Amino acid sequence: IVAHFQPKVLAGRHVVVTAGPTFEALDPIRGITNHSSGKMGFAIARAAREAGAEVTLVAGPVHLATPRGVQRIDVKSAQQMLQATQAAVQQASVFVATAAVADWRPASQAEHKIKKDGSGATPVLHFVENPDILATVAQGERARSGALFCVGFAAESENLAEHAKAKRARKGIPLLVGNIGPLTFGQDDNALLLVDAQGVRELPRAPKLQLARELVAEIAARLQRAPH
Ligand code: CTP
Ligand code: CA
Repeated sequence: IVAHFQPKVLAGRHVVVTAGPTFEALDPIRGITNHSSGKMGFAIARAAREAGAEVTLVAGPVHLATPRGVQRIDVKSAQQMLQATQAAVQQASVFVATAAVADWRPASQAEHKIKKDGSGATPVLHFVENPDILATVAQGERARSGALFCVGFAAESENLAEHAKAKRARKGIPLLVGNIGPLTFGQDDNALLLVDAQGVRELPRAPKLQLARELVAEIAARLQRAPH
C-alpha cells in the first residue's frame, strides 16, 4: 500500500544491488562466510522498485523474502557474485554494492570432505584474495563513461569518516555510504554517513527501509544530470 505513494524517481532506470554475505567453500561440507544479514541490500532493492526502477538483486546466502517485483539471482561465492553482477550491470544505470563479500577464499577446494587422520594434526588453510566486485564494476567501461552510477558501502569499527573517504577514492566511485557503528548485524535499523565529492552528510538512525528510501532519493537526485 505504501509503495503506491512512493514518488517514481527511478522510473525507466535499471538498478543492480548486491546483498548478503558470500560463502567460500573449503570442501563439499564446509566453508567461510560472515554475519551479514542482507537486510540493508534487500531494503534498497525494495525501495528502488517502489521508486519505479527495474531491479536485479544479486544475493549471497541469506534468509530473506524477495521484495515484490524484484528479479533475484542467488549466488554463493564472490566469484559467482562477480559474474552475475557483471552480466546484470550491462543494462543498468545504478549499481549499489551492499554485499559483505569475503575478502579471501581458500586457495583450493577439496573435492571430498576433509577427514581427520587420527594423529591430531590440524589442517593448514591457504587463502587467495577475492575479486573486488565494486572496484571491478567501477573501473568498467559503463561506469567510466558515466552511464552507470556506482554506490559502495563500508562498515568500519573505527574512524568511519576517514576510512570512508579513503575507500571512496580507492574504489573510484562517486558515492560511498558508511554504516555508523556500533557494528551490529541483522538489526532492523541503522544510521548512515553519505560521502561524496561535496563532503559528508548523515542520515540519522531509522528503520532500514526508511533509510533505503532516503538513499534512493539521494541517488535519484544525483542521476538527474546523467543520461539514461
Ligand atoms: N566489495 C566488493 N567486493 C569485494 C570487497 C568489497 O564489491 N571483494 C564492496 C562491498 O560490497 C562494499 C565496498 O566494496 O560496497 C566496501 O567493502 P569493504 O569490505 O568495506 O572494503 P574492502 O575494500 O574490502 O576493504 P576492507 O575490508 O579491508 O576494509
Ligand atoms: Ca572487505
